Amino acid sequence: MFHFNYYAPTQVVFGKDTEEKTGELVKAQNCKKVLIHYGSGSVKRTGLLDRVKQALEKENLAYTELGGVVPNPRLSLVKEGIELCKKEGVDFILAVGGGSVIDSAKAIGYGVANGGDVWDFYSHKRSAAGCLPIGVILTISATGSEMSDSSVITNEDGWIKTGYHSEYCRPKFAIMNPELTMTLPDYQTACGCTDILMHTMERYFTKGENMELTDSIAEALMRTVIENTKILKENPKDYNARAEVMWAGSLSHNGLTGCGNGGNDFATHALEHELGGMYDVAHGAGLAALWGSWARYVYREIPERFHKFAVRVMGLEDTGDAEEMAMRGIEAMEAFFREIKMPTNLRELGLTPSEEELKELAHKCSLNTGGHKGSAKVLYEADMLAIYEM
Ligand code: NZQ
Ligand code: ZN
Repeated sequence: MFHFNYYAPTQVVFGKDTEEKTGELVKAQNCKKVLIHYGSGSVKRTGLLDRVKQALEKENLAYTELGGVVPNPRLSLVKEGIELCKKEGVDFILAVGGGSVIDSAKAIGYGVANGGDVWDFYSHKRSAAGCLPIGVILTISATGSEMSDSSVITNEDGWIKTGYHSEYCRPKFAIMNPELTMTLPDYQTACGCTDILMHTMERYFTKGENMELTDSIAEALMRTVIENTKILKENPKDYNARAEVMWAGSLSHNGLTGCGNGGNDFATHALEHELGGMYDVAHGAGLAALWGSWARYVYREIPERFHKFAVRVMGLEDTGDAEEMAMRGIEAMEAFFREIKMPTNLRELGLTPSEEELKELAHKCSLNTGGHKGSAKVLYEADMLAIYEM
């Protein structure tokens, strides 16, 4: 078992109608002015934005707003948000939406709290010394950004998508009402469930020591997500399934499923971020398209982990042959992706990149990861290219 540092300071307010508590939760932050940050329109269509404004007004809280965040959130809007916050004296950001809105809010928070060019943090030129406090009303179960230390932003100049991690950006509170996710298109629900699974798989498929308790939590989480994704495919309005998936989303990326497992792999995420940056694909779909190739490329390094996954997560009967079971587990996972209409390769994702583009993806991925990435198998640029080619 490896040493670990687990820090999960976010207050979670979970259940039906919990957005009604927005006013009192923001008030407890003792802020002067709130920025309500949101996406491209779903919160207007559902009426959530109006309800949030009413909740703030009820507590006499001053606010301004900035919408327009797109999936794979852009640096230009972040910069606009930073200027708006400075001009309006904003000292608290309320993100109403999914991972893209939350990440954009975090980036604005870094920009206001630190000054200078906010892209410096994402290009790893300097470290942030703080972030404006963030609150979240979650509308899609996926990234876990509502509890995570991470923010991923796309710079339109060069279409570079990178993440920045620090404890400063972990949200103060997250309001999670599973009912708010019932208006999601089926495709976004499936993308979100895939991302949730991947956040635990990236922590599960590591080389080195493992902690049995953490493995068991991880396996239960993965089984729960698979089971409930299937339920949601048939009945998107199933409240309990929405709730199971929503809570799994937070626990999958707040560090819990990595405690004692010796760090993270996250190579599939690094490979996907380049697809998101260059081709603007949905994050979860990009992960599904890459995972099978990554798994086939690395499984011989840690056959016992893949064996355990096949038996304990995918529920396959154990033949005792680790390599054979590993491959059957990978195939079972891909069959699940197909069942929920997720792609299992780039073509199914709608991409047919040329060899030059594949090289560019691998090169950018290697640059953005400082030359290498992964724990199950450390991947260098040539490995990254091989996986994209697969
Ligand atoms: O913009 P609106 O109109 O709200 O539409 C969104 C968007 O089109 C829509 N949507 C969200 N909630 C809805 C809804 N539509 C109807 N009803 C609702 N209740 O769904 C679409 C996707 O939203 P987005 O926020 O982009 O999805 P997601 O939560 O999957 O976030 C993806 C982004 O997060 C990053 C990804 O790379 C990607 O940029 N990630 C962030 C992480 C983190 N900060 O910890 C970790 C992840 O690994 C990931 O990299
Ligand atoms: Zn992810």
